[in-house]
Amino acid sequence: MCGIVGYVGEKDAKSVLLSGLKKLEYRGYDSCGIGTIVGGKFLVNKNTNRIDSLEEEVKETPTSKIGVGHTRWATHGGATVENAHPHVSNNKKVLVVHNGIIENYARLREMLKAKGYKFYSDTDTEVIPNLIDLYNKGDFMQAVKKAMDMLEGSFALGIINLDDPNTLVAAKRNSPLIVGIGDAESFIASDFSAILKYTDKISILENDEYAVLKNGGVYFYDSELNPCGKDFKFIDMKDEATEKNGYAHFMLKEINENTITIKNTVSEYIKDDEIVFDLKLTEEDIKNINQIHIVACGTAMHAGLNGKNIIETLTRIPVNVEVASEFRYKNPILKENDLVIFISQSGETADTVACLELVKERGIKYMSMVNVKESTIDRMSENVIYTKAGPEIAVASTKAYVAQVCLIDLFAIYLAKILKTADKKYLKQLTYELKTMHAAVQTVLEHPEVYAEYGKSIASELDMFYLGRGLDYYVALEGSLKLKEISYIHSEACQFGELKHGPIALIEEGTNVIAICTSKKLLGKVVSNIKEVKARGAKVLLITNQTQVPHEVYDERMEIPHIDELLSPILTVIPLQLIAYYATVEKGLDVDKPRNLAKSVTVE
Ligand code: M6R
Repeated sequence: MCGIVGYVGEKDAKSVLLSGLKKLEYRGYDSCGIGTIVGGKFLVNKNTNRIDSLEEEVKETPTSKIGVGHTRWATHGGATVENAHPHVSNNKKVLVVHNGIIENYARLREMLKAKGYKFYSDTDTEVIPNLIDLYNKGDFMQAVKKAMDMLEGSFALGIINLDDPNTLVAAKRNSPLIVGIGDAESFIASDFSAILKYTDKISILENDEYAVLKNGGVYFYDSELNPCGKDFKFIDMKDEATEKNGYAHFMLKEINENTITIKNTVSEYIKDDEIVFDLKLTEEDIKNINQIHIVACGTAMHAGLNGKNIIETLTRIPVNVEVASEFRYKNPILKENDLVIFISQSGETADTVACLELVKERGIKYMSMVNVKESTIDRMSENVIYTKAGPEIAVASTKAYVAQVCLIDLFAIYLAKILKTADKKYLKQLTYELKTMHAAVQTVLEHPEVYAEYGKSIASELDMFYLGRGLDYYVALEGSLKLKEISYIHSEACQFGELKHGPIALIEEGTNVIAICTSKKLLGKVVSNIKEVKARGAKVLLITNQTQVPHEVYDERMEIPHIDELLSPILTVIPLQLIAYYATVEKGLDVDKPRNLAKSVTVE
């Protein structure tokens, strides 16, 4: 989704802004722009290409000490230069970049039109600089506040103003915005990565707070414009963590980081062979849990499905997994002793955040599993446990999924131990397997040529099927999502048992099927199901750790190491991630930045 960066200081603003925008590219965008102040006027450059081309465009433009930049992911109006940010007021005195959505913009636009304002874009954003201008009677901050009071929706704003050309104003409601401070310079950004190259000292703006950046300092104000002190803290993240480090793509780097991700996530929570979580949920609370609800979106929701399987198996507590965008609008049935678990890599997904607010309001116990510290979900949750995946830049989530599955596995074992619902020795064995899982993952990663060859072979396909039962089906869902989101090959995941109830009608000579099988108990059934698709001409790739599958039922086979069935998704997903990656590379598509998608979905 859209990205914001802003700068005030002694450096050339445009180079800071471009470097920040490059770091924000991963969020997904379809146009970009920067606005600086030169010779008492705004200098605005926007285009619908990549940041590199914006960089080329501004190579010869004069330097400036202040400016804001933006990557836009179109919501209101197409991806055109007119709609790209920044947007400027009619009198060319106020310039704004904006993330999020102004829900009442149509009404505001009519009101402004009635007062003589003209509009050049289709965006919701363009009302903001004009509203500020309308209310500006000499006290700029009062004008910004008045405009803020009129706006409905979610937004983060970076504002500069020609009457005070050394000052940058930032404001936000329900959309993340951070402020960074360096040596006689200050920054705003929609996420840390944009400014990490310059500073790791940051403060997070809360809803309806204002930050005024000037003279190398930052001044904070509350919603009534009373000065309010806010702390700066150091972020434990290095700029290099957001670089490709020699890999062709972030996605490939991140898939290869699955080993270290598992190691870091597991070692954070296993102390002397015991799983330890620092949660405000007491043993009593856990013993009283009536039902668990897991709420998330996309890949994080798929990790939640794995969680359902392992939690139900080990604890017999019923688990309901819900897509956040459905959960928030369905008046969910939540009872006093329920526990809601939110899973999110970014910690910023708008629908997941909204569900958290809903659950909080209802007074139901909840906890969160997030990857990005200091993200909105992290800050809103009393009980948080972290996936230690480090920054994930590729839009397609890979290592974060693996970390989420590991974390939820650890949590399931932790619950079962407290509840005494599973054999102690078995729980110990699972804990041990998780501790050594990184080595098993390494063996799956060792022969990339196998996945590359298969990926290439499917690159020109139009349709794929991913089949499995139980946990293997949940992984099939994730493999299918991975393929479609980056290679644009249509794919469908299906439970083996459901084939006969419809989808098998689509299987014909040459249809590509990836069959996943890690369950000894279900092996016989799965073999029969594979035979059914084979008999209709399907080309079957089998991903398995079972030795008893007759070779005539598959065309190709990929082996994964033996591991307890409950933990198998951590291994089976890796070939699927690599297959999606190599198919996309073969098609010559932009692996890390697939069309229409954004890394963190901050609007609903
Ligand atoms: O940051 P979150 O984990 O909340 O994001 C959820 C989904 O938007 C995300 O997993 C999405 O489905 C990915 N593009 C999948 O690769």
